[in-house]
Amino acid sequence: MPRYERIDGGETTFAIAADESGAPRLLHFGRRLPDDLDLSEIDAASRIGPRESTLDVPIRPSLYPAAGMGWFGEPAISGVHDGGDGAICWSETTLERRDHALVMRLVDQRMLLRVELSYAIDPDTGVLASRAAIYNDNDKIFRLQQADSVCLPLPSWATDILSMSGDWSREGQPFRLALSSGAWSQTNRTGRTGFPGSTFAVLDPTADDHAGRVLAVHLAWSGNHRLLVETLPSGERMANAGLHLAPGEVEMAPGGVFETPIAYACVSDHGLNGVSDAFHSFVRTRILPRRINNVRRVHFNSWEAAYFAFDEASLKELASAAAGIGIERFVVDDGWFTGRHDDTSSLGDWRVDRERFANGLAPLIEHVHRLGMDLGIWVEPEMVNPDSDLYRTHPDWCVHARDAERPTMRNQLWLDMSRSDVRDHLFEQLDRLLSENDIAYLKWDCNRFLFPAVSAGFPAAADITRGTYALMDRLRAAHPSVEIESCASGGARVDLEILKRATRVWPSDSTDAIERVRIQRWANLILPLETVGAHVGPSPNPITGRELPMAFRARVAMFGHLGVEMDPRKLDPKDRETLAIHIALYKRFRGLLHSGRLLRWRSDDGADAAICVSKNADEALALVCRAEVASRAQAAPIRFPGLDRAARYRITLPDPWPEIAKRRIHDADAWLGGRTFSARVLEETGLSLPLADPQTAWLIHLART
Ligand code: GLA
Repeated sequence: MPRYERIDGGETTFAIAADESGAPRLLHFGRRLPDDLDLSEIDAASRIGPRESTLDVPIRPSLYPAAGMGWFGEPAISGVHDGGDGAICWSETTLERRDHALVMRLVDQRMLLRVELSYAIDPDTGVLASRAAIYNDNDKIFRLQQADSVCLPLPSWATDILSMSGDWSREGQPFRLALSSGAWSQTNRTGRTGFPGSTFAVLDPTADDHAGRVLAVHLAWSGNHRLLVETLPSGERMANAGLHLAPGEVEMAPGGVFETPIAYACVSDHGLNGVSDAFHSFVRTRILPRRINNVRRVHFNSWEAAYFAFDEASLKELASAAAGIGIERFVVDDGWFTGRHDDTSSLGDWRVDRERFANGLAPLIEHVHRLGMDLGIWVEPEMVNPDSDLYRTHPDWCVHARDAERPTMRNQLWLDMSRSDVRDHLFEQLDRLLSENDIAYLKWDCNRFLFPAVSAGFPAAADITRGTYALMDRLRAAHPSVEIESCASGGARVDLEILKRATRVWPSDSTDAIERVRIQRWANLILPLETVGAHVGPSPNPITGRELPMAFRARVAMFGHLGVEMDPRKLDPKDRETLAIHIALYKRFRGLLHSGRLLRWRSDDGADAAICVSKNADEALALVCRAEVASRAQAAPIRFPGLDRAARYRITLPDPWPEIAKRRIHDADAWLGGRTFSARVLEETGLSLPLADPQTAWLIHLART
C-alpha cells in the first residue's frame, strides 16, 4: 500500500506517492488541492494498464529514476562502483515529513548506495526547493556520473518549452518550442552560470504573460549544468536540472557524501507573470542576503565613463559631477590596482596602484563621502593575468592541465578556487582592501570561461565553483555590510545561489536601452527589479552604436537598480537635467518599484509594458516603451493588469513627456493635472497614449483615489 504525502505553499500543492521500493511518484505539482482530498484517488485515477512490448510490471515515471529497473529515459542518477555493474535499483524507500518538507531515502541495498531527496515548499509563495544528497555506503569508490537536483514528470498540459539563449551583450533571448519527440537540453560547460542562464519553463499551448499554466524550473548553480526536457517514445515527459559532471569528476570515497545544488520550481495558473510573482517574493524573503540595507542607492560606474583612463584627480572630478545629478554611490571599475593600464596585466595583484593614487584610496573616499556618496570598487578575484606578480610567484595556482598549454581568454587564467591556499591568499588580499578602506560595495567580476576545468590532475569544475562560494561567504562573514554585485562579462553569472551572496546582478554589458528592455524583461522572469543593475549609458552606445534619447534611456533604467555609466560632464545641459529628473523620480518611486508586484506584458500592438503595483494596490507605476515605429499611426491602448478592480485611480504622466509624442496627446491640459479612471476602464478599454513613434517611453503613475 503506497504512502501518500503532500506539502502546500501559496497556491500550490506538491503531492507524492511512495511505494516500499522504487523512487517516489509525483501525484501532483500544481494548483492547491482541497485539504481533505484523498490523494489515493489521484493515484487510482492515473493508473495505467498493461501494454504490448514493454515491461511486464510497467515502470512509471518517478521523481528520481535510475536505469537498473528498466527506465529508458535519462536517469536522474548514474554511476558505478569500482568493479561494480552500475545497475542502480531502489530496493527500499522511506519517507519523512518535516513541516513544509518531504525527505525521502532511496536505498540500493545491493550496491550500498543511498540517496536522500528533499523537497521543501515555501509556505508563502509555493516555490519548491529540491535537492539530493548521495551517500556511498560501500567500501568501494563510487564514480558518480549524474546526480540531478530535480527530476519532474511533466503534466499532460505541458506542450511547449520556453527558455533563453544569450551571449556577451546579447543576453535574454527567449525562445519557445513545441515539445515533440526526443529531448531539448542545454548543457553549460563554461564554469559560470552562462549567458543563457539556468531557467526554463514548460507551458500549456495558450499560456502567455498573464494567463495559462506554466511550470518553471531554475537551477541555483553558478557553474556547469545540464537542463533537460525529454519526451519518451511512450509520450511520457520529464524535466531534469542538475550539475553537468565531467567523466571522473566525482569519485566518492567509501562513506562519502555528495550534495547537489538546489533546483527551484514553481507552477503558475497566471502565465509567466504568475511565475515572476512567486519568484520575486521568494527571492526577496528567502534568497537575498539579510543584514543589507535594502534602499538601492543610485550608482555611478566609471567603466563606460573612463575605461582605464583615470587617476585620483579625474575620479574626484567625476565624483563631483556625479553627486551633482543625484548619484549616491560612486563605483570605481577596472583599473585601480597595481600596474593595470589595460586588460593585459595585473589581475591578481589587488593592491592600490600608487601611480594613479599616490596616497592610496583614502583621499578619493573622503572626497566621495564629503559629497554624500559611498564608494564601490571592481574586483575579479578568481582571475590572474600571466603578466602579474601573483602569477610570477605562483604559476601553479591557475587552473591548468599538466604539460599542456594554458590558453587565455581576455589575456587571463582562472585561479584554482578549489585550493584552500589560493582562497586564503585571495581572502587576505580582499580583507585587507576592505579593512583599510571604507568600501561599501564590490562589483565581483569573472571574465573568462573555466577551461580546462582541472585541479591537481583531476576534473574539478564543481569544486572550483564551490570554492568561489566559500571565498565569498568568508568575505561576507568578515565584512557583513559590504554589498556584492555578481557580474561575469555582463550577465553570465545570474542565478539564485550567487544571489544568496550578492545583492544584485549585472545582467549585461550592453547599456543600449532598446536591448535593455528585452534583457531586463527576461532577467525579471525570476529576479525582482531591485536585484537587476540597470545603468544609463552613453549615446551613441559604445556596444551597438545606437543613439537614443536620454528620457528613453533613463526610463528603461529606472525599472531596475538605477545607475549611470557615462561621464555626466560630457552631457549637454538639457540631457543632464533630464537625467537628474529621472534620478529624482527613481528615488521617489524606488520604494514602490522594489517592493511591489511586477507584471510585464506586450500591448495589443507590441509595445513593451511593465507595471509595478504596491501590495495593497493603492499605487502603481507603469512604463510603456516603443522601440520601433508602430505599424499604425494610432497605437493600441494600454490595458493595465494588476489593479484593484473596485478602485478608481488618478493617473499622472511624470515629466518630461516624450518629445514627439507630446505633440500628439489628446487634451494635454487635462493630463497636466492628472485624470481619474476606474480600474475596470483601465483594464478593459485601456488608455490611449501617443505611442506609435519609435524610442518613445511613457511613465504612468496611478494612485487610488
Ligand atoms: C567586464 C564587465 C564590465 C567591466 C569590465 C572591466 O567586461 O562586464 O562591466 O567591469 O569587465 O574590465
